[in-house]
Amino acid sequence: MDKTATVLSSLLFLFTFLTTTSLSKDLCNQDDKNTLLKIKESLNNPYHLASWHPETDCCSWYCLECGDATVNHRVTSLTIFSGQISGQIPPEVGDLPYLETLVFRKLTNLTGQIQPTIAKLKNLKYLRLSWTNLTGPIPDFISQLKKLEFLELSFNDLSGSIPSSLSTLPNIMALELSRNKLTGSIPESFGSFPGAVPDLRLSHNQLSGPIPKSLGNLDFNRIDLSRNKLEGDASMLFGANKTSWSIDLSRNMFQFDLSKVELPKTLGVLDLNHNGITGNIPVQWTETPLQFFNVSYNRLCGHIPTGGKLQSFDSYSYSHNKCLCGAPFDNCK
Ligand SMILES: *[C@@H]1O[C@H](CO)[C@@H](O)[C@H](O)[C@H]1NC(C)=O
Ligand SMILES: *[C@@H]1O[C@H](CO)[C@@H](O)[C@H](O)[C@H]1NC(C)=O
Ligand SMILES: *[C@@H]1O[C@H](CO)[C@@H](O)[C@H](O)[C@H]1NC(C)=O
Ligand SMILES: *[C@@H]1O[C@H](CO)[C@@H](O)[C@H](O)[C@H]1NC(C)=O
Repeated sequence: MDKTATVLSSLLFLFTFLTTTSLSKDLCNQDDKNTLLKIKESLNNPYHLASWHPETDCCSWYCLECGDATVNHRVTSLTIFSGQISGQIPPEVGDLPYLETLVFRKLTNLTGQIQPTIAKLKNLKYLRLSWTNLTGPIPDFISQLKKLEFLELSFNDLSGSIPSSLSTLPNIMALELSRNKLTGSIPESFGSFPGAVPDLRLSHNQLSGPIPKSLGNLDFNRIDLSRNKLEGDASMLFGANKTSWSIDLSRNMFQFDLSKVELPKTLGVLDLNHNGITGNIPVQWTETPLQFFNVSYNRLCGHIPTGGKLQSFDSYSYSHNKCLCGAPFDNCK
């Protein structure tokens, strides 16, 4: 009798133990799960999100990550990449308050504006909406996402000007706004960021006017302003005391005298092709570890200094100038 009771109670204990542990394996927060199911519905239940099934733990669904126990396993990352997805960014993304990473990438049928509810995501560190067909302006509210470290809005159809408030982001490490239809000038405020100087990529837009002098105060590791309609002086971006690795100003309308421009001793990539740059190439340029170099289609003249890396580039890097001479061209007369 006693024995049977013991066996029965042990079995009962085991059963309870097994069911509670299997339930506690469902880590997903119920609010997050409801929100995610609404997002799936908003996107017309795409096959890409087939694993998002109400009967399973949402922390096991594709395109998602949950945080650890310190944030009660709330959803911290949503990455929708390269699927058959049509429609707009669902407003419900704003209801995932622990989100640190939000990515919609390589979705050509994703249209509409940058979803305003993203403003609610105060924990966001990494926002990447790229290779989609988003339109409209870059919203000012992005500057309220104070934890943002990486902002990529490249390869879209965004228009309007760049909000100057982006320079107030205290932790930003990279601002990538290339390949849109942005107009206006580079904001004066971009001459000072509260934290480290971010990598700046603004290429393939319709930005115009001179670049603010204040940008000369910064030591960019990478700056790409290529393929815009920028004009005037860009010499302030250079300097022997800077530590830049890559500077691309190609295909603009810059006009300045190169003769006194010193390059950072760290510069590996310099592209100035298709501008109206005058003067000669300084001897100091032989002191840089250049790996890519292009000054073609400008109005440069004079002797190409001998030494360093300058002769490791062929004539295509120097072609279509006014009167450059010396290797890789013929000797100067
Ligand atoms: C985009 O939409 C078009 C028209 O509805 C469709 O033919 C195409 O397959 C969609 N592409 C993707 C990647 O979803
Ligand atoms: C999306 O963008 C691609 C590439 O820019 C373009 O070919 C396509 O027509 C666009 N689709 C829509 C629906 O706007
Ligand atoms: C570069 O740094 C040196 C030594 O720190 C300083 O003497 C010089 O004035 C600086 N040059 C420029 C152009 O800032
Ligand atoms: C330099 O730019 C010109 C003009 O775009 C291009 O034709 C040439 O191939 C480029 N040279 C190199 C080495 O990329």
